[in-house]
Amino acid sequence: MRIGVIGTGVIATALVRGLAGQGHVITVSQRSAANSATLARDIPEVSVAENQAVLDASDVVFLGLMAEAAPSVLGALQFRPDQQVISLMAGATLAQIAPMVAPACAVALMLPYPGIAHGGSPVLALGDPALIETFFAPRNPVFRLKDEAELSAYLCAQAVLSPVAQMVADASDWLGRRADEPVQGEAFLRALVASNLSVGSAGALVEALNTEGGYNQRLRVHLERAGLRAALAQGLDKLERPQ
Ligand SMILES: NC(=O)c1ccc[n+]([C@@H]2O[C@H](COP(=O)([O-])OP(=O)(O)OC[C@H]3O[C@@H](n4cnc5c(N)ncnc54)[C@H](OP(=O)(O)O)[C@@H]3O)[C@@H](O)[C@H]2O)c1
Repeated sequence: MRIGVIGTGVIATALVRGLAGQGHVITVSQRSAANSATLARDIPEVSVAENQAVLDASDVVFLGLMAEAAPSVLGALQFRPDQQVISLMAGATLAQIAPMVAPACAVALMLPYPGIAHGGSPVLALGDPALIETFFAPRNPVFRLKDEAELSAYLCAQAVLSPVAQMVADASDWLGRRADEPVQGEAFLRALVASNLSVGSAGALVEALNTEGGYNQRLRVHLERAGLRAALAQGLDKLERPQ
């Protein structure tokens, strides 16, 4: 397919890497210049163009802009009725995007993660998921969402990723000050957390790790007594209802 990308930032760059090697013709907008140049250098089917030329060369268009920039950037461009647009912008609803890309069709909102560059990374999809699944499944699991309200709840809950990563980073640093090879220590902890969470429910894993007096139980109980679970619940509520 002929694919265009407007806004070649962090997430769009990862997405293009995830699309590489599948026979698509991919045109990316020049900004961010370092990202677009690197993609064109690394991936033979990628070329770089000005925004309007990206659209003119594409049947499917991904929007990788910040939502605040979208009205002015997209307002200066001419879309075609036969184009399908997939937005990556967490800060704009499909209803807001539709008039910005008319007469093209805003078919879906897609929220990927940087891991999409390599596969195995979850993708949230709102709207018509058919194109998203054609491009990215089954290499990446696509989670279909019902409506904007459900998307909002997912956006709040997915923020658990950063504190989890911080905990693994801190435990890795702690281990690194004691272990012979710090890099190996972090690799071990990342593999431990990712693999064990990937095979079953989180609650079942907590139960399986609940050996009386064991390392896992003792650390979990210590953190709970320090307020970790209550702070998580409060933090999620705050994300849902910012003051
Ligand atoms: N990062 C993530 O993990 C993630 C995940 C899911 C969804 N998202 C969503 O994806 C969007 C982008 O996020 P990001 O993290 O990738 O941010 P980012 O790296 O700042 O990407 C924004 C891109 O828009 C470009 N841009 C600005 N003005 C432009 C113009 N006139 N023409 C063409 N491109 C223009 C910027 O180029 P310059 O650098 O040259 O200004 C930059 O490449 C956001 O709406 C975010 O909600 C991000």
